[in-house]
Amino acid sequence: MSTSTSLGGPFRPAQSTATDPVAWLVDCHARIEKVVAGLGALSRAALDDPRAAVTAQACHRYLQLALPLHAQDEDESLVPPLLAAPSGAALGGALDRMQAEHQQIVLALPGALILLDHVVNGLAVGTGELHDLAEWADGLLLPHIHHEEQVILPAVGRLSPDILDQIARQMRARRATPGAAETR
Ligand SMILES: [Fe+2]
Ligand SMILES: [Fe+2]
Repeated sequence: MSTSTSLGGPFRPAQSTATDPVAWLVDCHARIEKVVAGLGALSRAALDDPRAAVTAQACHRYLQLALPLHAQDEDESLVPPLLAAPSGAALGGALDRMQAEHQQIVLALPGALILLDHVVNGLAVGTGELHDLAEWADGLLLPHIHHEEQVILPAVGRLSPDILDQIARQMRARRATPGAAETR
């Protein structure tokens, strides 16, 4: 299988992105794209290849720790200031779509994590299950982040510097708790 699916270890925003929420969120999206690529590679891989377990572990870590925090960043730190902004009403439908997709994603995570855990531990996994997981990621996660980048993040970038600073502080605080240390 391809070895280009490494997710680069725990997520630590570069100095330049730690104070810029839009750059930080785009960075997270790049990681989500790597997870989708990793799940696609797993669905085609020979699972006795040791690289399959490494890829499954990296995908598991991102989906378990970082993705829920990313969704929380968007739901809790972006939605309120965007709705309060003068153009907020026009964004309402896009924000509803984003939040509804977050709920779909979070609902699917426990099953995905069990499957990936089985790959990590060399337990029997049906190739159909991995194929379905890869299709889910391809069909939901990619359109989701592309929609955010086209519609929502540009609106975030138009918020005032004070509000952007507040969003970045909330994102940093979310990762400052002991349980989230891996995702900093
Ligand atoms: Fe999202
Ligand atoms: Fe996102």
